[in-house]
Amino acid sequence: MHPGHLRFENVPLARRKDGKASELYAAWLNTAWEGFNHKPATGEQLEQMLQAHEIDARVLTGVYDDARPAELVDPLVPVATYSSFAKTLNVGAGVLPAHLITLVTVRPTHRRRGILRELMGTDLARAKAAGFPLAALTATEATIYGRFGFGRATEQQRMNLDVRGDVRFHAAPEGSVTQLEPAKLGVIAGELFERFHGTQRGSVGRQESYLRHATGRWGSEGPEPDSKTRAAVYLDASGTVQGYLTYAFAGWEAKPIRLNVLDLVAATPVARRELFRFLAAHDLIEQVGYPFAAANDPLGWALEDTARLTYTEREHSLWVRVLDVPAAFAAREYRGSGRFILRVEDSLGLASGSYAFSVVDGRAAIARLEGDPLPDASCDVQTLGPLLLGSASVADLAEAGVLRLADPSNANTLGAMLDLPGVPHAINGF
Ligand SMILES: CC(C)(COP(=O)(O)OP(=O)(O)OC[C@H]1O[C@@H](n2cnc3c(N)ncnc32)[C@H](O)[C@@H]1OP(=O)(O)O)[C@@H](O)C(=O)NCCC(=O)NCCS
Repeated sequence: MHPGHLRFENVPLARRKDGKASELYAAWLNTAWEGFNHKPATGEQLEQMLQAHEIDARVLTGVYDDARPAELVDPLVPVATYSSFAKTLNVGAGVLPAHLITLVTVRPTHRRRGILRELMGTDLARAKAAGFPLAALTATEATIYGRFGFGRATEQQRMNLDVRGDVRFHAAPEGSVTQLEPAKLGVIAGELFERFHGTQRGSVGRQESYLRHATGRWGSEGPEPDSKTRAAVYLDASGTVQGYLTYAFAGWEAKPIRLNVLDLVAATPVARRELFRFLAAHDLIEQVGYPFAAANDPLGWALEDTARLTYTEREHSLWVRVLDVPAAFAAREYRGSGRFILRVEDSLGLASGSYAFSVVDGRAAIARLEGDPLPDASCDVQTLGPLLLGSASVADLAEAGVLRLADPSNANTLGAMLDLPGVPHAINGF
């Protein structure tokens, strides 16, 4: 356990009398940034971050060690940071409130003393009490958060499109693409994302920083304007905007010479395809890089020459922690009808229990059962994330040993209800 002289404090999103960010907030943010190896924020960057955190209604926690020598260390500087905010997650048949956790850092002087465990245990219990059916985060390392009940739910990979010469698509072009100043994306970016978010399983709501990035107010170097950002929108045949794109030239030194997609939000599959066609039509460019491709990105099927696509940097993206099994799983899609009992073990005690699923025509009612009925399947809470979002089939989870079936020959019966087409996918992190 952590030693008693550590103080766990809420850090308010406060301003000084002159309107500038409070010293406490500044010290918290700079400690979190240092944890991710960023330089300390300038005055203007602090202001931008505070504005964005105010809009997101972030809840910040700092951990302070009063045993540090006061003559050497500003006592406002925390030894650990943690923050959360409320957004939503699309779980297939519904968009649910999601407790998002981010900017988790523990200084090397204080690691492995149980600080993260204390922060996480308290925060998840609070999120459950506040009625959140699930929590989510993105992780720097895959081995940290499983012990707290988070399961790997989405993956992403970098897609590199070779655009030398004439890139040919099977489908004929449709609609039109217009290049514009990023600042013009203000309202469009938010609206298009909400349309996309409402239809894409695995999509997670966006924090304020995304809007600021899309409109060029924030750039790749941090929360400050970036003149490198370019923008375009796709309009369908009726002139309705159905997708937008921000992208930047990587510089003449980068080889192959390339454009990097910063953000691409399409409300329709045609909009997405046409925005890639637009990217592929740039002269003097050899490659287009897109970092948020799904594990099964459909672009390969659109191109005549699929060898133009290569994939790198495949990694886990969203980690989901179920807090309320009936509420979370009622917002998921199923197939067909049937019944089964799932037993969940949760070392934090938040989701443990046996649950009866009654599936009727693709939707389920879930009830927590008293006593200890014989389950058809059992798992640790960390398997619930991928099970909820349909990230893997029942057969694959059973084969991996993380979903234990009472009768292994039942994998097909359960899979017929629980397996979903495609994979969940998120196009942003936090
Ligand atoms: C990851 C980090 C937050 C852990 O904080 P911490 O206070 O040292 O963690 P705790 O002491 O509470 O450890 C809790 C458990 O996680 C384990 N753990 C912590 N960091 C781990 C890591 N990087 N890899 C694997 N296990 C880890 C501990 O061994 C401990 O396991 P146990 O409960 O089974 O004994 C901290 O090391 C850190 O700041 N790392 C750099 C930034 C980072 O990666 N942040 C995560 C961003 S999403």
